[in-house]
Amino acid sequence: MGSVQSVCVCGAGTMGSGIAQVAAMAGFATIQFDVNEDMLAKSRSSIEKNLAIMVEKGRISSEQRQQALGLIHFTAKTENCIADLIIEAIIENLDAKTALFQKLVPINSSKTIFATNTSSISVSAIAKGCGEEKRMAGMHFFNPAPLMKLVEVIHTAQTDDTVTETLVAVAKQMGKTPVICSDSPGFIVNRVARHYYLEAMELVEKYGADIATTDAVMEAAGFKMGPFKLMDLIGMDINYSVSNIVWEALGKPERLKPSTMQRQKVEAGELGRKTGKGFYKY
Ligand SMILES: NC(=O)c1ccc[n+]([C@@H]2O[C@H](COP(=O)([O-])OP(=O)(O)OC[C@H]3O[C@@H](n4cnc5c(N)ncnc54)[C@H](O)[C@@H]3O)[C@@H](O)[C@H]2O)c1
Repeated sequence: MGSVQSVCVCGAGTMGSGIAQVAAMAGFATIQFDVNEDMLAKSRSSIEKNLAIMVEKGRISSEQRQQALGLIHFTAKTENCIADLIIEAIIENLDAKTALFQKLVPINSSKTIFATNTSSISVSAIAKGCGEEKRMAGMHFFNPAPLMKLVEVIHTAQTDDTVTETLVAVAKQMGKTPVICSDSPGFIVNRVARHYYLEAMELVEKYGADIATTDAVMEAAGFKMGPFKLMDLIGMDINYSVSNIVWEALGKPERLKPSTMQRQKVEAGELGRKTGKGFYKY
């Protein structure tokens, strides 16, 4: 695979916006795509604001801010999604992801690499669905993408070794710490972290624990964020999908059964920070 000069980030939500910021700051010509114009406008203002804060704190110069902003092109048109590397960060749904890649594969070059930021969906299933298995891998960033160093690079049984090597190099150029994972449900972090959320919700649902106290206790024990604050940051729709996908993929073990609390929050539209209300109000 050739070297990556341009990156197209599909999805301008919680993750896509942060990934586009990281890509532009690393010097890649960056396309930020979303079907929703409002999300594109939100992403643009959030990136502008984040970079302005970095200038204020002396982390980057105002020239670097201008340079990064100048590298990002915002678009709502699929036909503009042409790049050396596509990073997909749309909703956590296999059919939606497959349908998007099915549109992107034929309009891109035969050298383009396709990466998904999925938290839990089988990367092989996405690759199979869009008919591009060798050039497809996972590139799983963590929230907030500009701050979190870890990137899980998911190498499926079909991924070409050079594709994985390129993604590792791109992640390093972005200042990240890539770790190669196999394509198993939840990969590493989301598999282990399922219990952090599910056990906390069970304590509240079944044993009457208090949400704020549970968060405070976990933070006092050394975790950076309590489980409820973290779920609000992630977005309950995403977290609930991940719970369901990991549970089903592992044969529905009782220990990983999604919580009714998660479902109720999604049904109520209380998704966390992105909707202004989750377990807490914002
Ligand atoms: N939220 C997290 O903490 C987190 C962390 C790591 C990975 N992820 C993964 O990243 C992906 C995105 O999650 P998010 O939290 O950013 O979601 P989000 O709900 O904040 O944003 C999703 C965006 O995708 C857009 N979208 C939906 N369908 C689209 C399509 N067909 N084409 C283009 N854009 C489309 C929506 O308009 C929205 O702006 C998911 O796969 C999720 O599992 C999320």
